[in-house]
This record gives sequence, C-alpha cells and structure tokens, in this order.
Amino acid sequence: MHDETVAIHGGYTADATRAVAVPIYQTVAHDFIDHEHAGRVFDLETPGFHYNRINNPTCDVLEQRLALLESGVAGLATSSGMSAVTMAVLNLLEAGDNLVAAPQLYGATYTYFSHVLPRLGLEVRFPRDDSAGSLAALIDARTKAVFCETVGNPACNVIDLAAVVAAAHDRGVPVIVDNTVPTPLLWKPIEDGADVVIHSLTKFIGGHGTTTGGMIIDAGRFQWDAQPERFRNLIEPEPAFHDVRYTQEFAHAPYLTRCRTVGMRNTGANLSPFNAFLHLQGLESLAVRLPRHEANARAVASHLITHPAVAWVSFLAFEDNPYYELAQRYLGDRVPSIITFGVRGGRDAAIATFDGVKLFKRLVNMGDAKSLIAHPASTTHRQLRPAELEHVGITHDMVRLSIGLEHPDDLIEDLDQALAAAARQG
Ligand SMILES: Cc1ncc(COP(=O)(O)O)c(C=O)c1O
Repeated sequence: MHDETVAIHGGYTADATRAVAVPIYQTVAHDFIDHEHAGRVFDLETPGFHYNRINNPTCDVLEQRLALLESGVAGLATSSGMSAVTMAVLNLLEAGDNLVAAPQLYGATYTYFSHVLPRLGLEVRFPRDDSAGSLAALIDARTKAVFCETVGNPACNVIDLAAVVAAAHDRGVPVIVDNTVPTPLLWKPIEDGADVVIHSLTKFIGGHGTTTGGMIIDAGRFQWDAQPERFRNLIEPEPAFHDVRYTQEFAHAPYLTRCRTVGMRNTGANLSPFNAFLHLQGLESLAVRLPRHEANARAVASHLITHPAVAWVSFLAFEDNPYYELAQRYLGDRVPSIITFGVRGGRDAAIATFDGVKLFKRLVNMGDAKSLIAHPASTTHRQLRPAELEHVGITHDMVRLSIGLEHPDDLIEDLDQALAAAARQG
C-alpha cells in the first residue's frame, strides 16, 4: 500500500467492538489467562501485553504503523525524541566504547553526546564535517555505531547516507539515523541502508505542537553475529532479561527487542497510550499537511531572499544551498519547511526580529501547524561554547523558522514588520 494509506490504516485491526478509531487502552497491565500464559508472555514467546512500561496495544499500533512507513521490521514508542536517542545508543554502548557522530545535530543531542555520555565512560567522536570519509576515519574496534540526522536540525545539512552506510558497514559498524526533520514521507533511510531509525514524533508526525513522543525502528538486517566480540550484548545471554540471546531467539529484530526488554524496562521512558493516540491522529493527516508546509515555506523563503534586511537564506530548495544536490538525490523535489536566515546587523538584529514577530510563535519546536521562530544561539544551542557553535553550524545572526499551515501572505507580512522593527532599533 501507499504511504498515505499506511499512515491511516497500518497496523490496526479492530477488536470485537469494531471501533474505527484506534482505542486508547488506558490500562497499566493486562490480565493473564493463567500462570503458563503469564510465563509465555513474560518470555515473549507468545504475542501479548503484560505491563505498559514494556508494551501497550495503542502504542503497538503506532509502532507497527511507523515501522511500515519506514520499511523497518519493528518499532518501539518512547516518551520523547530524546528518550529515543538515549535508548538507541545505550542499547549498544558499554563503558569504554565509543560512538562516531556527525557534528550537526539537534542541540540537546549534541550536548548529551559531548557532555553527558563522556561522564559515563562513553566517548563520542565528532569529525570536522559530516562526510562519509571523515566519519569513517574515526571508527575503531570499540566503535559501536555511527550516528547522524538525515536532515540536521537546525543547520538543514543533508547527510550522504548511502555513502555513510557503505563506509560504516565496511568497518562492521551499524548506522543509527534520526529522521525527524524529513519524516518517512520524504525520506526512508532504511532503503538507503540505515540499520536503526529514530524519530521525535513531537514535530511533524504529531504535527500540532501538543504532544512529545519518540520512536526507534529496527531495520532488522544488520549482521550482529558476524562480530561476536563487538556486539556481545546482543549475542551472549542477557542477564538483565532471562538470559535471552537476542540474535538467536529474536532474530527478526534483536536490536529492538533488547531496547524494549532492557532499555525501556529499566528507564520507563514509555509513551502513554493517550499520547500514542494523539500521534496516530497526527500521522493520519501527515501526507496532506507536508505539501502545504512546503508550499508555504517556498513562498516565505523566496520573499526573504529578496529582503534588504536579510543577509542570507538557507533553504534546501535553493540551488545555491551547499546541500542542494544531496537534497535532490535523497528527497527528490520535496523539502522540509525549515528555513534559516541571517539578519543584517548580527546577533542583536536577529534577537530583535525574534522579539518583534506578532503571528509567529517564539518557541523551540518545529513541525507544528503554527509557524514558529527560534534564535538557536540563545535557546536550543545556548550552552554551546563559541567553537562548538561554529562546529555545529550555528551563527549568532541565525534565525530559524518552522513554517506552518497559515496563509503565506500573513506570515510574510509578520516577518516584514518584525524585520522593519529590528532595522529601526539597529
Ligand atoms: C532532530 C531532532 N531529534 C530529536 C529531538 C528531540 O525530540 P523531543 O523534543 O521530542 O525530545 C529533536 C527536538 O527538537 C529534534 O529536532
């Protein structure tokens, strides 16, 4: 079936009530038939639900639906995008190991990798740029994964994913990729060889700025067994869960099964059934929302590029964008509705523009039906030092826009008045 259809029907078969909308199973646990049934469910030998920190029927539909859209074999819903990032990397890394990551990342992910994981004895290696060669050069025997974003937030860099996957696989290492910005409707990273895909559902998939959520999807293809030493936590008996050998007993999705039974079971970062329901509502209309987001963004970006108070505009649909060719290759003619631009006059002018908008909402989300404005250097990336800001591609004059579903003329009028007010202050 096509994406539009999967986004509405995937993973759901009505129960005896024949409810058309996916029911919200607001329950902590599920009644076992008897002790034998309980044992089989606990050992994951029989399909079933036991305790909602580990699995839930409403979340299950969302997990199946997104796994289908991403061409993966299994999904795990999490409470937010950051819990998905955390669980995805901790599922592989042990003290003394390292992760190789592209430098242009969402601010909290970058901070977590550069300042939190190292204190746990987990090294994160960032090359100077996001090319396959630079990433591959940092891989060694203790590297457990390469991590990148398909389209980076907020720099909107596009990763050459097929090249990164080829280089990582050549060295025996899987690729974990955050596909939040394009969503599977614009890019399916597993089809380019990615091994694990993660999402912040909080953005375009939820789509209305109401609900945090995350997802981890397993492509189910990586040959963990080929390297028994590097991936022993997926191969050897797991003491934290019934001595299960994931690659043998859950060969279709060993990585994801460990995420659920060790990562989720211990962190408790599960998505609530109600929030899963809200993300299912968002997913149903994603295919009709994205083209409108994009058309509005094209109109706003085309206006900004001619504006005298604007120093530069970075938008993936523009041919002068350094990532234009990669965007064409991986996204086709589609682009995410994220625009960054520089305000003439630098940091003060950018902040005055941010302060001056009346219709745009000043906040640090994206993918909402409402248009949003952010000043990354003073918000999402506030704690980064000057060298780190440069490394991740953030400048002080940079304003980021997430273009929503309003009429584009109203958005343009609002930006014009804010830029004019900023120029008057300067
Ligand atoms: C690319 C990307 N990944 C992960 C996250 C974290 O998601 P959440 O805010 O749902 O924790 C974000 C949030 O902005 C993001 O943009």
